[in-house]
Amino acid sequence: MISASAPGKVILFGEHAVVHGYKAAAIPLPAIRATSSIGNRYYSLGTHIVAPMIDLDADYADLADSHPLKFTIDLFYARHPHVALSPITISIESQIPISSGMGSGAAVTASLLRSLFQFHKIDFSPQILSELVHEVEKIHHGTPSGIDNTVVCFEQPVIFKKNQPLQTFSITGEAILVIANSGHTTPTHETVAYVRQKLVDQPQTVTSIFTAIEETCLEGVQALQSSNFPFAGMSMRKNHQLLRDLGVSDPVLDRLVDTAIKAGAWGAKLSGGGRGGIIIALCSPEKEDFVGSSLENAGGVQIMTTPIATDHGSIN
Ligand code: PMV
Repeated sequence: MISASAPGKVILFGEHAVVHGYKAAAIPLPAIRATSSIGNRYYSLGTHIVAPMIDLDADYADLADSHPLKFTIDLFYARHPHVALSPITISIESQIPISSGMGSGAAVTASLLRSLFQFHKIDFSPQILSELVHEVEKIHHGTPSGIDNTVVCFEQPVIFKKNQPLQTFSITGEAILVIANSGHTTPTHETVAYVRQKLVDQPQTVTSIFTAIEETCLEGVQALQSSNFPFAGMSMRKNHQLLRDLGVSDPVLDRLVDTAIKAGAWGAKLSGGGRGGIIIALCSPEKEDFVGSSLENAGGVQIMTTPIATDHGSIN
């Protein structure tokens, strides 16, 4: 049995602007992962896929070509014509909430590809993996910037800009990231399409929002690198306001962000595509419990906390 995994992620700064060529920052969540396992099967049985988190228990041959898992498997074998799909059982499990802005699609794809590379004893680099995951992300997102596949495959905090060499960074110090799910979701491709149309309709306004988002991203990352968490929190607040101005927040996300700040977080913002999905809040370890319980009382679900320092792996 071969097993491989990949982490979830959160975008700290810069979502949406990143689609249009501006810089954004994201960190992996090493302790919350998707895992794929591959075992051999009797020849007559064909290949079977089990993925309980999406209620899938099906033969590979019965899946539509556009199904992301079949697409991933087909992409792998198309790129490696010297190996063939033998009858196997693929089991996929994920701890990452689906469609919430935590990179569940990219992590599932990365774990499946990693297990296929290992099963066939083919060497691969994070870059090769990331490029393949990006191809599959196009099914989920239409025009993904590439930030999700990059952070999930390299498993390091990244400052990402389209078509630029990878830039990583590290965070030290005592601060906690609290993640709260709004409990509803809007497909990322919808909010991305909305922003693209707004850029056509109001180019000056939207371009100045993108520019301000990038500035906020860079000052926020600098603050995180120097453990200046109150400043990083302010950058998160500014970034959330800019995303509101862009039109991708909603009343539930705004309420959760306000709640986190009133509970003592240094800052908070929506994270990911918006109009649902998650918010992230940055706070001191002393405030962690109160911020979490306040978010829960305000309607947040699946509250998770993780140290933001990059040498930590635990998530609660
Ligand atoms: O919804 P998520 O977590 O996949 O994040 C999307 C981030 C966007 O910037 C809105 C889109 C993208 O492709 O970067």
